[in-house]
Amino acid sequence: MCGIFGFVGKHDALSTVLSGLSRLEYRGYDSAGTAFFDENDAINVIRTTGRVQRLTETAPKTNAGGAAIAHTRWATHGSVCERNAHPLSAGRVVLVHNGIIENFRELREELHYTPISETDTEIAAALIDSLYDGDPMEAIAKAQKRLHGSYAFAILFRDKPGVIYATRCESPLALMRTEQGSFLSSDPSAFPACGEYLVPQEHTIVEITADAIHARGEVKTAVLNKLDRSEGRQGYAHYMLKEIYEQPQALRRTVERYLVDGHVDFSQENIPDTLFDGIRHMHVVACGTAMHAGLVSSHLFRSLAGVEVTAHIASEFCDAGVLVDDDSLYVFISQSGETADTLAALRRVKAGGGRVLSVINRRGTIIERESGNVLHTSCGPEIAVASTKAFTAQVGVMYLLAIRMACARGRLDAQGESEAIASLLAGVDSVAPAIALHPQIAAMASRISKAKDVFFIGRAADYAIACEGALKLKEISYLHAESIAAGELKHGTISLIEPGVPSVAYLTRKQTCSRVLLSVQEILSRGGTVYLFATEDMEVPEGLDELVVCRLPAKEGAGAAFSAAVSLQLLAYETAKQLGMPIDMPRNLAKSVTVA
Ligand code: G6P
Repeated sequence: MCGIFGFVGKHDALSTVLSGLSRLEYRGYDSAGTAFFDENDAINVIRTTGRVQRLTETAPKTNAGGAAIAHTRWATHGSVCERNAHPLSAGRVVLVHNGIIENFRELREELHYTPISETDTEIAAALIDSLYDGDPMEAIAKAQKRLHGSYAFAILFRDKPGVIYATRCESPLALMRTEQGSFLSSDPSAFPACGEYLVPQEHTIVEITADAIHARGEVKTAVLNKLDRSEGRQGYAHYMLKEIYEQPQALRRTVERYLVDGHVDFSQENIPDTLFDGIRHMHVVACGTAMHAGLVSSHLFRSLAGVEVTAHIASEFCDAGVLVDDDSLYVFISQSGETADTLAALRRVKAGGGRVLSVINRRGTIIERESGNVLHTSCGPEIAVASTKAFTAQVGVMYLLAIRMACARGRLDAQGESEAIASLLAGVDSVAPAIALHPQIAAMASRISKAKDVFFIGRAADYAIACEGALKLKEISYLHAESIAAGELKHGTISLIEPGVPSVAYLTRKQTCSRVLLSVQEILSRGGTVYLFATEDMEVPEGLDELVVCRLPAKEGAGAAFSAAVSLQLLAYETAKQLGMPIDMPRNLAKSVTVA
């Protein structure tokens, strides 16, 4: 979380960092700020609450060159106000920070420093200033020894115009040299051009001028092949809607990439079948929507590949001390490739010698680099905070992985593999017709938007879908939503059902049909309203008061997860829209959660 951007060049330093910053806004949008050297070589600082757009409107329209740094904030320490916005200054030092300084209180006491802001960051500026005797790199190196936590810093020294200093520990940082000058960014995809870029390794300190980047420490090179940019909303009211509607192509692209001559084939990613040798257990580890993609697909690994699966919330994986052993495969799912909890879990497994595989959307990210074995979702940039197309693509890749594992383990013969692929492709085909349910779902949303609480139920894979349905609704509509395994309803949550309370139920398995319908009846008996999403082949009662049925354009089975996913996304989107919420950038949330 938080995005930092910097530029040193002969022209347009301020406007360059502001446009770079707007490409990092997915990392946080509580407040934004910039610092730049003016024509008298004095540092100017401008900060605003709210979005980068507001900062851009406030900033002077100067085209002066020199050095500029900028920041978009997701608040961790200190409320959202101008005083807590970055850049933060102390003495001769002005800096922007992504990460958390864990020992900021101790440092304040040691330095007898009285901060102006409530942030954990300001003390880093004070510390560097206290150690500065004219050699910035030396001061930063000394400061690093006393800073605990995670950081990527871009730093200006008042007596060093035209130079940016930067360093990192855990938080991402990339650098690029071009004809116009030198750039730094939290995310290489915010650079203005493709090409080679540099990744400073942990604790490396860099000095960035218009013509050169000097490093004290190790720097690796990487290549940005494609500008992973969204081309705007393209006429859609919101990015989220655009991304929901992109799913038929995004999912097909993702799946077909790994289908070669009618077989699931990961050889282009150099993932050998030996990775699956002797696997007895799979652990799927992720956060948020990506975790739900793991949960939805768990059932496939059991049924197709005969492997037991546990889906873990990444932050719990570390805290709960899950064991790392030789006969498990640890699968990490992340759209952004940089979620801090997922990264921490990956590092823990790697340190324990476990076998890992990651499913990532964004290229060139830290989880991708550290995983080694990576399968990609090919959905292009996902801009809206609420994840949609990444989710269906993640489920698609997990489906392929289950098929490949099943083949490698001798659980599926050629005929079985063709049938499994056919059923996956039928699921892919159902996504476009599911989008056509939009008007029907909008009508449901107009009733749901009047509720305070909404309950989502299902069994097995449909429970996982219910979890994602509740998350999506909470994220963007701010209604209280809760997912419950249908069988668990009667053990507590049913006490909250009273006339008018809406529940949403998913039914895509005949095996669970009668039991899910029993839960539906129990809700109806207590005056609740149920919106039931069922596949077209499911026998469900029609014409019951307060039971609203929506038919998913799919047959029962694993592929139905795709159309169910689209339906829950549209339900959340329409509810939030009818409530007038800021759908693409909901309060308090960020697209990329880089703090643990
Ligand atoms: C944040 C986002 C979610 C996302 C989760 C995991 O909470 O708002 O949409 O599902 O992080 O992100 P990842 O990038 O690891 O998939």
